[in-house]
Amino acid sequence: MAEVILALDLPSGSEAMRLLDRLPEARWVKVGSILMTREGAPFVRALIGRGHRVFLDLKWHDIPNTVAGAVMAARELGVSMATVHALGGRTMMEAAAVAAGGDVALVGVTVLTSHDVASYGRATGRREVNLGDEAVRQAEEAASAGLAGVVCSSAEVVSVRRVLPEDALVVVPGIRSETDTMGDQVRVATAKEAVRAGATHLVVGRPVLHAPDPADALRRLLEEARCVPS
Ligand code: C5P
Repeated sequence: MAEVILALDLPSGSEAMRLLDRLPEARWVKVGSILMTREGAPFVRALIGRGHRVFLDLKWHDIPNTVAGAVMAARELGVSMATVHALGGRTMMEAAAVAAGGDVALVGVTVLTSHDVASYGRATGRREVNLGDEAVRQAEEAASAGLAGVVCSSAEVVSVRRVLPEDALVVVPGIRSETDTMGDQVRVATAKEAVRAGATHLVVGRPVLHAPDPADALRRLLEEARCVPS
């Protein structure tokens, strides 16, 4: 059983609110760089006011003092979950974890689901890279720094779980059914596969946002997410 988080990657807050009016089953919503840049804190407050749990996905990666300040602002805003990049380093993640206190579940983004071996190798200047090992190494760092969990692809959930505490959050984006288009995602899985692997939260955007019937698409995902991890 996992929570389904709807990624509100839409051009405006009013469009997002209109969509949510049609999706009474959407409990968790994700606000990323697009809507935060356009609408800011009032939009997040409005979502919380409507009873949503907000995942603020701004993937902070900066010096420790700046990231801690941003996390503190997110905490005051009342968001339930937020992201930092695990590659920001141990000191940055420790400062962020302290700022989050017990109020915001802070998760460390490991290897983006849009990366394949070639693009990650290029970005990090390495010839030999194993994305699974890389995600595990970053998850270990995130856990040691005191984060509540990580973001990774479905393929890495089992190995990442081995190095995380039992109650850690494992958030999985890149959710696609066999008939969905991939878009820019590379390391994808179905909702059922991700939950069976041990994901606690699934992040889904375009498969719902672009569906002919978003309510039906979300309902199917919620049903799949109810399956039991194997
Ligand atoms: O539309 P789609 O289902 O691909 O949306 C996935 C969402 O998850 C996007 O909002 C993206 O920013 C986010 N995300 C991701 N990969 C990560 C972390 C977050 O795709 N590693």
